[in-house]
Amino acid sequence: MPLVTSKEMFAKAYNGGYAIGAFNVNNMEIVQGITEACREEHAPVILQVSKGARAYANHTYLVKLVEAAVIECPEIPIVLHLDHGPDFETCKSCIDGGFTSVMIDASSKPFEENIEITRRVVEYAHEHGVVVEAELGTLSGIEDEVNVAEGCASYTRPEEVEEFVTRTGCDSLAIAIGTSHGAYKFKPGTKPQLRFDVLHECEKRLPGFPIVLHGSSSVPQEYVEMINENGGAMPGAIGVPEDQLREASRSAVCKINIDSDLRLAMTGTIRKFFNEHPDKFDPREYLKPARANIKELVRHKLRDVLGCSGKA
Ligand code: G3H
Ligand code: 13P
Ligand code: ZN
Repeated sequence: MPLVTSKEMFAKAYNGGYAIGAFNVNNMEIVQGITEACREEHAPVILQVSKGARAYANHTYLVKLVEAAVIECPEIPIVLHLDHGPDFETCKSCIDGGFTSVMIDASSKPFEENIEITRRVVEYAHEHGVVVEAELGTLSGIEDEVNVAEGCASYTRPEEVEEFVTRTGCDSLAIAIGTSHGAYKFKPGTKPQLRFDVLHECEKRLPGFPIVLHGSSSVPQEYVEMINENGGAMPGAIGVPEDQLREASRSAVCKINIDSDLRLAMTGTIRKFFNEHPDKFDPREYLKPARANIKELVRHKLRDVLGCSGKA
């Protein structure tokens, strides 16, 4: 089947009490690892591309890699999504360039400005059959293009969500309930706890409407240790407990974003390989186990965290 939008996927996930995995892609091995797992698990999937990924790998290469996955995995629905679109122009370029879904992230702007920018993207996207994710509330954390200091992060205000969704016409909404981007989500020694009260308040005010969780890597300690034991230094890397993500996926949360876990699996595997084989220099030899471990990690997420195995 060709690339799809997330419309039908989210309706099924909402009613079925599971979530779709949205995994960030930056190169061929990541696309292959994710989609091979989804194919074997018969799981629908969202492959998402950030501004940083487009700068690194080039828009066309990424679109063509995802199109190749669509050909190789004809039995599963695949969405190609822009992650954290920073402005109208970037969203337009992805809408014109083959994406089926875009996120406009104006969450750091004042409420009225966020509405105005989002509304403009929605108008253009809908004219072209593309769906739009927007964001209310800000997550802390750092990636290439998204950098919000801890003190500037804020939970979503449930009393704002109805007005925001009605006035923008967006198709899904990312909310802030205590997750954050990157591998250092909670202070070591503290108990990680998402604000399910905020989630349920938003859910109540938007019946039937798909909610999105960003910053949802669980930061597997197995890979943190693998990195630290093989020359890396990531002390205190902590993620969202998987049981809380499982709980979220049973609610109105229909899309769960995971990037850092893929990075950890890839980096840990490659570091270990180099440590054990200092003589090797063929990239295929270390990218192959890295791709295999990404596949296993994604398979685990689909089965045990998102609950979307067998839902394609
Ligand atoms: O939330 C953003 C993703 O983790 C992408 O990160 O901007 O470094 O590609 P990036
Ligand atoms: P993580 O850093 O927790 O993987 O979050 C990824 C994300 O939200 C992409 O938009
Ligand atoms: Zn994000």
